[in-house]
Amino acid sequence: MKTILITGGAGFIGSHVVRRFVKKYPNYKIVNLDTLTYAGNLANLRDIEKEPNYEFVKADITDGELMKTIFNKYCFDGVIHLAAESHVDRSISSPMEFIFTNIVGTVNLLNAAREIWKEFTDKRFYHISTDEVYGSLGATGFFYEDTAYDPRSPYSASKASSDHLVRAYHHTYGLPIVISNCSNNYGPFQFPEKLIPLAIHNIKNNKPVPVYGKGENIRDWLFVEDHANAIDLIYHEGRIAETYNIGGHNEWKNIDLIHLLIEIMDKKLNRSAGASLSLITYVKDRAGHDLRYAIDSGKIQEALGWKPSLQFAEGLEKTVEWYLANEEWMNNVTSGDYQKYYDDQYVKR
Ligand code: NAD
Ligand code: DAU
Repeated sequence: MKTILITGGAGFIGSHVVRRFVKKYPNYKIVNLDTLTYAGNLANLRDIEKEPNYEFVKADITDGELMKTIFNKYCFDGVIHLAAESHVDRSISSPMEFIFTNIVGTVNLLNAAREIWKEFTDKRFYHISTDEVYGSLGATGFFYEDTAYDPRSPYSASKASSDHLVRAYHHTYGLPIVISNCSNNYGPFQFPEKLIPLAIHNIKNNKPVPVYGKGENIRDWLFVEDHANAIDLIYHEGRIAETYNIGGHNEWKNIDLIHLLIEIMDKKLNRSAGASLSLITYVKDRAGHDLRYAIDSGKIQEALGWKPSLQFAEGLEKTVEWYLANEEWMNNVTSGDYQKYYDDQYVKR
């Protein structure tokens, strides 16, 4: 039986990856290591938490000695590293957590892998990253695997730094690494600080839907299970030291996306068509707001046969249905400190 460490498995994307691996690979033991920040939620994994090949370990990746102890205890065969501070707005108001978790935490895991593994045969350290490391595009063009890094927010700079360190551990020590850089994910279990779940929550509750600036920024959206599928393929078949870009070829201007979401939600909530359009509220723009992201995912499509499975309207409808059916999940994650975060971000903005 192989033992695989998945970090950040209680978060949005991590929970989909953990679920996929636990269900699909009964011959793997999956260890989910997560410190459970505001974004980590074990309720995301209720359906698999009792599976015999799953174990949760509450630990903070910024504790380097603890990472070595855990590596020693479990003798991992591979690592899929997702744990991170992930929200751009939080990185603008509070950058230091991003430096500790995304940079120091990643180096702690690299050190533990290098020191405890010693021999690297059949090992693999897979680092999950973002397209934001490439910076911002104008009206045309795509991010390719060899696009020069140009991160522009504390979040993307911390992720770029961790990507460089992961590659450096391969070049310097021979650590068997692989990296992927993905575009914006959406789907069930995403914390309602990100655009889509925040807008769903607010539309449902007849609250203002905050649109930054003029709503003209463009993101390339991918359904989270398509990302989990790509991660599965890259973990098993990706070539050591390679980078793979993952994206949906699905660019949307924020304001157009909100219009589509309102169209879907007005139907689901039995409101008249366009009833929720009045909730759209233009707010002060994000500082340093990247204009456009767009991924060319030709390499993973050709090399590994991956492609997105869902059309956006279908994925968005599925996502809306999930949030409407999981009111208790939303109530839980929006209790506690959430209201303060929301007021700081939007009301005082
Ligand atoms: P998320 O914020 O939903 O989850 C992050 C998880 O990491 C949480 O469970 C949190 O508790 C855990 N964590 C944070 N700090 C930790 C620490 N110090 N020690 C241990 N665990 C810690 O994030 P997400 O959106 O699921 O993103 C997961 C990964 O994918 C991140 O590395 C992110 O950069 C990357 N990514 C995200 C997207 C996206 O659209 N969300 C796109 C591309 C890449
Ligand atoms: O591109 C991949 C990245 O996508 C990931 O690496 C990040 O972890 C993830 O958070 C996401 O970053 P974004 O900043 O693109 O996602 P967010 O959902 O925060 O914002 C999407 C767009 O919507 C962006 O242009 C800002 C805008 N926005 C966001 C919020 C939260 C609004 O207009 N209003 C909002 O309330």
